[in-house]
Amino acid sequence: MNEVQIIGTGSYAPLNIMTNQQMSELVDTSDEWIVSMTGIKQRHISQGENTSDLATKAALEALKDANVKPEDIDLIIVASTSPDQFVPATACIVQGNIGADSAMAFDISAACTGFIFALNIAMQFLKTGDRKRALIIGAEVLSKIVDWTDRNTCILFGDGAGAAVIEVGTKRGIISVDSASEGKKFDLLTCPTVDVINTFSRGKVDFKAKIDMDGKEIFRFAVNIIVSSIDKILKENNYTLDDIKYVVCHQANFRIIDFVVKRLKADKDKFFVNLDKYGNTSAASIAIALDEMNKTNLLNAGDKIILVGFGGGLTYGASLIEWTISK
Ligand code: ACO
Repeated sequence: MNEVQIIGTGSYAPLNIMTNQQMSELVDTSDEWIVSMTGIKQRHISQGENTSDLATKAALEALKDANVKPEDIDLIIVASTSPDQFVPATACIVQGNIGADSAMAFDISAACTGFIFALNIAMQFLKTGDRKRALIIGAEVLSKIVDWTDRNTCILFGDGAGAAVIEVGTKRGIISVDSASEGKKFDLLTCPTVDVINTFSRGKVDFKAKIDMDGKEIFRFAVNIIVSSIDKILKENNYTLDDIKYVVCHQANFRIIDFVVKRLKADKDKFFVNLDKYGNTSAASIAIALDEMNKTNLLNAGDKIILVGFGGGLTYGASLIEWTISK
């Protein structure tokens, strides 16, 4: 089996920023409530760019960072809850945009755990030798599926994309990836598409793609699953939290991360947080965080980090990574 490592990262968020103050002009909320209940101060909201546009920009930046040409990519996976269209896959649009003509490209749907699932799938392709170099992207324009009249959800989400290039190499960069689903709880976080309306059924076509969520249950699930995922991946690989430089949780809510820190009796500085600037960007959040850490030189070759995702599905997963990019 081959070893697999991350060789470059990229990210992109729409230039337009929406503050909590602007949010309070839309729904009955306040900066104070949003900050104290979530830690979010602002989010980026697209003004016309679609998910593939964000994904393409993040992808090009990751390729540049990795010093890899698009034609040398042989696998593209886009994780998204908000793809451009039913068909084609957003990954195929990205492939066309960047000219990665040798790649197989497809999308996956695993909500906020999408980047971890994509990493897991790509790693399997690379480990077996079927593919050599993959571009994995988490990209969302959630603003097009947010219910802008629902203060329980619309304050949480933002638009953005993050990407990583991973390739077969000699170093054991991606040490372990674990991913799982709990389909019994599928209805805790949903976004419908279209009703079954056809020539044999009656009724009017109602396109009702709006995010709906049981916030309290998701909160509970998130705290429990982050703690158990971290415990499991550490034990399986004979590490303790002391061996880990940073834990990068899906950036949903600062209070979720705070609960996890307390539960694990961990050093809070070990938990990377940038949700104050982006809000919850679902499948993109971990990838955006990883790129920020890379570009701000928080990571040195040899550092071990844990990525942890959770989200609709329900889905969850974690990855233990040794950083292999030298400054
Ligand atoms: N502004 C002001 N008040 C609000 C707002 C708002 N935006 N939203 C709710 N409230 C009010 C409620 O109406 C309620 O008022 P009441 O007591 O008079 O009835 C009060 O605040 C408390 O509301 P709750 O919904 O009970 O608040 P809760 O403690 O559950 O916090 C929150 C809500 C922040 C959404 C929390 O449940 C949460 O963060 N859950 C996790 C959600 C999450 O992270 N989802 C994404 C993960 S999966 C994925 O990323 C796709």
